[in-house]
Amino acid sequence: MKVTVDRRDALDAGADAVVSALFERGEKDDTFPRSLAREDTACRGLLTAAWKRKELRGKRRELSVFHRPDGRGRLVLIGLGPRARFDAETLRRAAAEVVRGLKGKGARTVAFRLPSFAVDSFTPEAAARAIVDGAALGAYEFVKYKSTTEGGVEEAAVHLGEELVRDEAIVKKAVVDELALVDTVVWTRDIANLPADTATPERLAEEARGLAKEFGLKVTVFDEKKLAEMGCGGILAVGSGSSHPPRMIVLEYPGGARRGRTIAVVGKGITFDSGGISIKPGPRMAEMKFDKSGAVAVLGILRAAATMEVAPRVVGVLCCAENLPGGSAYRPGDVVRTFSGKTIEILNTDAEGRVVLADGLAYVVQQYKPDEVIDLATLTGAEVVALGDDTAGLVSTDDRLAQGLLAASALTGEPLWRMPLTDFHREMVKSEVADVRNSTEISVAGMLTAAAFLETFVGSTPWAHLDIAGPAYTNLLTRKWQPAYQNSGATAFAVRTVVRYLESATTRN
Ligand code: BES
Ligand code: ZN
Ligand code: ZN
Repeated sequence: MKVTVDRRDALDAGADAVVSALFERGEKDDTFPRSLAREDTACRGLLTAAWKRKELRGKRRELSVFHRPDGRGRLVLIGLGPRARFDAETLRRAAAEVVRGLKGKGARTVAFRLPSFAVDSFTPEAAARAIVDGAALGAYEFVKYKSTTEGGVEEAAVHLGEELVRDEAIVKKAVVDELALVDTVVWTRDIANLPADTATPERLAEEARGLAKEFGLKVTVFDEKKLAEMGCGGILAVGSGSSHPPRMIVLEYPGGARRGRTIAVVGKGITFDSGGISIKPGPRMAEMKFDKSGAVAVLGILRAAATMEVAPRVVGVLCCAENLPGGSAYRPGDVVRTFSGKTIEILNTDAEGRVVLADGLAYVVQQYKPDEVIDLATLTGAEVVALGDDTAGLVSTDDRLAQGLLAASALTGEPLWRMPLTDFHREMVKSEVADVRNSTEISVAGMLTAAAFLETFVGSTPWAHLDIAGPAYTNLLTRKWQPAYQNSGATAFAVRTVVRYLESATTRN
């Protein structure tokens, strides 16, 4: 989506729809909000009339559309809920409600009246950023396979008007910066939404090569032959049942700062997770095309790091394989030897994410000696049970890194919740026949035993694990409770948060 900043008042600009906001009206609140006076004049009193009839209540998600009697398009009012609870996330959701509400209704351009959103201590630039997020992400649709589409909002403008025109430079800078990031989020969603017949491990490698070429990154693709030479038995085992061979892909962004840190980002890239021999039940299995979301997020993070020129050096690793049953598939009882030399007893072929990550994590730690490692994975159903479909689980061995990610998440509105890792979990993944086992076969702390397993392959490097099984995509059962800007199949969750974290990580301590 195109988003521009305009000095004029939105009401004078000639967009298909002008957007203003109102807070929730109190019980005994009979005075029409002063902030909507100009809007009311432009609509020749339609708003005050609606207010008197109690049609305007300002509740969250309440969308009221007025046709301007002067014939200059529509005026849209979006409810923000209680004033005391107003924050960036409310505004992101409100902007998304607007563009989604206008879908298929012939409004191609919208003009947000910024003074109506930048209220109290909320700065104009923070409001503008939230509008960019909500509008651009809310308008997103995966249309690649549709022969017809409804047609929605294509251009948004953030209008300063007289009240805010002095803030033009700072608002412009915020919009350009935010747009660069959401543009990458949209790009990431388009890949994460691809079905498994198309988004094979080799296709993800092609995407990485394309990125490398466009942004001057270094790329290395390890095919099945090379993986065998390197001893990456984990990725090979998981991919062995599929006719689409596995790949480990490494992308490197050199970093903008001279004494910058090296941060490694490792993603689970299961292009389809049928469960393998420990096959999953049929219902909702189609969702497992999203099991590559961690790896695809790594592509997005590298793309944003390069376009936004963040300070640290960033090494991205994508651990890609398709998990299918078949005559050559790996099986329960197998023992696989991984890159680090450590062995894994396979008890459940459906706990495959940790098996591919074992190789990727150990590889990046040994090869690049990063200052910190972050992994992203749709790793466990237990994460969804614990935290729901909107929140990712965070496990970290390093308080500073964990705090940094939580601070970034507070900025982006992508919820993270830190969970503990104790010796109890570490004991649970020990095996009788190998160094570790990939499943405990009891449903106790499933998200945390998975994390304990991964920790074995990271060693002492400061590490954070993001289990994004819940928020990586919106499913049909819970989508109605998701914010409108995440309602799109793949969400590209964690791209915005990790990139903001990278921006906060400047030089070595
Ligand atoms: N890809 C799944 C986890 C998942 C579940 C992601 C639901 C998104 C939504 C993962 O590979 C898996 O199947 N994990 C098993 C592990 C178990 C066998 C130890 C699980 O969570 O049930
Ligand atoms: Zn699985
Ligand atoms: Zn999986």
